[in-house]
Amino acid sequence: MLAQANTTIPVAIGTTYEGRDPKLLERMLPLVDYIEVTPETIAEVHDHKLALSHDVMTELKNIEKETQIVVHGVGLSIGSHEGWSSNYFQLLDALLEQIDVAWHSEHLGYTKVDGQHLGIMLALPKTDQVLDMVCERVIKIQERYPLPFLLENIVHVIPDFPGDYSEAGFLNALVNRTGCRLILDVYNLQCDEHNHGFDISGFLNEIELTKVRELHVACGVEHNGFLLDVHSKLTRSSTIRLAQNVVRRSEGSVELLVYEFMPEAVPGLGRNAIAQELRRLRLAFGD
Ligand SMILES: [Fe+2]
Repeated sequence: MLAQANTTIPVAIGTTYEGRDPKLLERMLPLVDYIEVTPETIAEVHDHKLALSHDVMTELKNIEKETQIVVHGVGLSIGSHEGWSSNYFQLLDALLEQIDVAWHSEHLGYTKVDGQHLGIMLALPKTDQVLDMVCERVIKIQERYPLPFLLENIVHVIPDFPGDYSEAGFLNALVNRTGCRLILDVYNLQCDEHNHGFDISGFLNEIELTKVRELHVACGVEHNGFLLDVHSKLTRSSTIRLAQNVVRRSEGSVELLVYEFMPEAVPGLGRNAIAQELRRLRLAFGD
């Protein structure tokens, strides 16, 4: 479906690319302003050491002049009480040495406990103690890298631990204490609404939308009634409308909207459909 009401405020369009599919990249590049790269997914193990793929880095260096690049990590585990993953910084350092990046981001969650990987990313308890810990870590990241740093809301797989803050209140405190900005994944909000009855309009009324710099849209599947945040489908119209609503209310702070999909989904979706999806988003958010 192509027809969508325009948001009136133009937003740049981006999409994920994990390398190794030059035909897909060729189709997407004329349609996007940004390519989002995840350091861990373009890494390979050589001699028992994790390092960025030389081939993928060559691909990224070749597109640097045509598009902007943003980094979106998944392995930092900023909320693990015992400390974050320093391996992530090694990959990020190596990437930033080789290509120019507009900003970098991670997820507001944790993937390990006591050094044990959970195999899933979980949302943080919204307590003062966790807020202090995360703010301290965000400030360290900002001191280490001279780039804007953004954090993204993730889905709630399990019910929330009773905390001191609402979802929006925690994010507001985080951005106001650190100066970091937010990625709002509006599909994640819809998953939380479907799975836990999350009040999206109450959240949007409370959150400081002028601190949101990037939006994510995606679509996954329902399994046993649970809406999963696997990125395997084309965006639903309701997700686009929600993103447009956020853009309208964000007073120009949203600069970029990223359509996320997993490389595993490409054969099922098809490269044509992905290109068509990016055209549809340009129309809905374009200039
Ligand atoms: Fe996302």
